[in-house]
Amino acid sequence: ASAESVSRPLVHYTPKAGWMNDPNGLFYDRSESTWHIYYQYNPNDTVWGSPLYWGHASSKDLTTWTEHADALSPSSNDSSVFSGCVVVDRNNTSGFFNDSINPEQRVVALYTEHSPVSQRQFAAYSLNGGYTFEKYEHNPVLDGNSTQFRDPKVIWHEETEKWVMTATRSHEYVVQIFSSSDLKSWELESNFTRHGFLGYQYECPGLAKVPIVGNSSLVSSGVTHKWVMFLSINPGSPMGGSFTQYFVGDFDGKVFTPDTAETRLLDYGKDYYALQTFSATENDDVLGLAWASNWDYAAYVPTYPWRGSMSLVRNFSLREYQPNSEAAQLNLFSEPIINYDALRLNQSIQTNATNIKKNDQLFFNLSSSAHGLLDLSFEWTVNKSNVGKKDFSALTVKLIGATDKEEYLELGYEANAQAFFFNRGNSNVNSMKENSFYSDKMSANVEPYELLSENEAVFKVHAILDRNIAEIYLNDGVSVTTNTFFLTDGNFIGALEVRSSVDDVYTVSNFNVKTTSG
Ligand code: FRU
Repeated sequence: ASAESVSRPLVHYTPKAGWMNDPNGLFYDRSESTWHIYYQYNPNDTVWGSPLYWGHASSKDLTTWTEHADALSPSSNDSSVFSGCVVVDRNNTSGFFNDSINPEQRVVALYTEHSPVSQRQFAAYSLNGGYTFEKYEHNPVLDGNSTQFRDPKVIWHEETEKWVMTATRSHEYVVQIFSSSDLKSWELESNFTRHGFLGYQYECPGLAKVPIVGNSSLVSSGVTHKWVMFLSINPGSPMGGSFTQYFVGDFDGKVFTPDTAETRLLDYGKDYYALQTFSATENDDVLGLAWASNWDYAAYVPTYPWRGSMSLVRNFSLREYQPNSEAAQLNLFSEPIINYDALRLNQSIQTNATNIKKNDQLFFNLSSSAHGLLDLSFEWTVNKSNVGKKDFSALTVKLIGATDKEEYLELGYEANAQAFFFNRGNSNVNSMKENSFYSDKMSANVEPYELLSENEAVFKVHAILDRNIAEIYLNDGVSVTTNTFFLTDGNFIGALEVRSSVDDVYTVSNFNVKTTSG
C-alpha cells in the first residue's frame, strides 16, 4: 500500500478511502445522543463517478467520527444516489413505522435518484436508526420530468404543520418549494427564481428558521427568528468555482420572501460548498455542515487514499452587527463546534498587548509534538491616523512549515484595502501550485468589531488549522473564510511569526495559540 500523501485532518471528517462530496441526510438522534451524517460517496475511486452511494458516519461530540457501512445504494447499474436529506418522522405521518420504532429513530431519507435520463426524488426509511434504509415501494415521490431536478431538503414547518421541501431546477435557476403531509405526495407551492449569483447551476438549497441573538430592534419588537434560504452554485462563484450563498427573509410555509434583493456569501473562502443543516436538533438549533472543497480542483488534491473532507459543524445565528451604528443590519454568524476535551493539549502560548513596530516580530516556535490542530486567536487595533496612503500596510501572521521552511501560509489585515487576507500560495506541492483554479490569495470583507475612537478600530480573529484545512472566523464569525492548503510533509506548522510592514499602526492583544493532537 502506498503511504498517505498528506496527513489527515484530525477533526474534519474524511472517509478512510474513496471519494466524498456533499454532506447529505444530516440528523440528530436524540434517543442515542448521536449525530449522523451521510455523504456523496464513491467507494471505488478517489474521483467523483457513478455509481454514487450514501456513505455514513456518526459522532457523539461533532469532533471525533466513526465511519459506518454505506447506508444507501443505487437501485440499478446505471443510477446513482445523489444528494438529499433525512427527517425524523416522530408522529409517523408517512406510515413507514410501527410502534416498536422509537419516535426519535423514525428516520426518512428523501434524495435524488439520478439516472442518465432523469433526476427524480425518492423516499427511503430506516428501521434501525439510520444504519440501513428500505426504499419506498412506490418511488418516485416526485418526478419533475427533468434531468436537472435535484437535492431535496425537507423541514417540518411548525406553523402550517406540514413538511416543506426545497429542490432545484438547476439549469433554470429555480428553487421549487413543495409541501406534504405524509412525505409521499408533494404539492408545488412556489418558485424562488433567479436570485443572487446564478452561476452555471443551482444546487443544494435549504430553508432554516434561524434565531436572532443579542440586542436588535427586531428582538425588542418581538421578532425572535428570521428565515434563511441557503443556495449553492457551481461553477460561477465570485471566488471561482463553487460556493454557498444565503438570503435572509420570511417564509409562510408556501413562499420565501427575501428582505432585500442582495445575496450574501456564507463563506469568503474557496472550500465551503453544498451546506446542509441538521434535522431534529435540540432546541431547533441551526447547525450546518459543508463539503470543504471546490469543484474546480476537488479531483486533483494530493490526498490518498481518500479525497474530500467536511468542514467543522457550525452553529448559525442571526445578529445585528454594529448595533450602535447606522450600518446595523442582520447578519448570519457562524460559530465552529469543536470539543477540545476530546483532544490532547500539547502547547499553549499567550502574550500581552504588543504594539508592533515596523521591524519587530513576534516569533513562536511550536514544539514538534504540535502536529495536530492549531487554534490561533487574537485581536488587533488599527490606528488609521498612522496609515500611509500608498503603502502596503499589513499586519501579517506567517505560519511556517515544519520541514520545508520555505513553505508558509499567511493571514492578516491590510489597512488601505481594509480587508482581511489569506495566502496559501507558498507551497512546494507542485500538483496544487500548477493548478490554475487553485487561487492562492484571497480576501474577506470585515467591518471593525468595535471603534475605540474615530481613528482606532478593533478586529478579532479565530483561526483553526487542521493539517490541510484552515477555517478563519472574523469578529465572532460575522465573516468566515475556509480554505484547504497543501504543504509538503503533512502540512505541519513549525513556527509562527507576527509582523507589521508599518510603524505604530497595529497593536496585537489577547494573542492565544493552542496546539492539540488526537
Ligand atoms: C453538488 C452536486 C449535487 C448532486 C451531487 C452529485 O455538489 O452536484 O447537485 O446531487 O453533487 O454528487
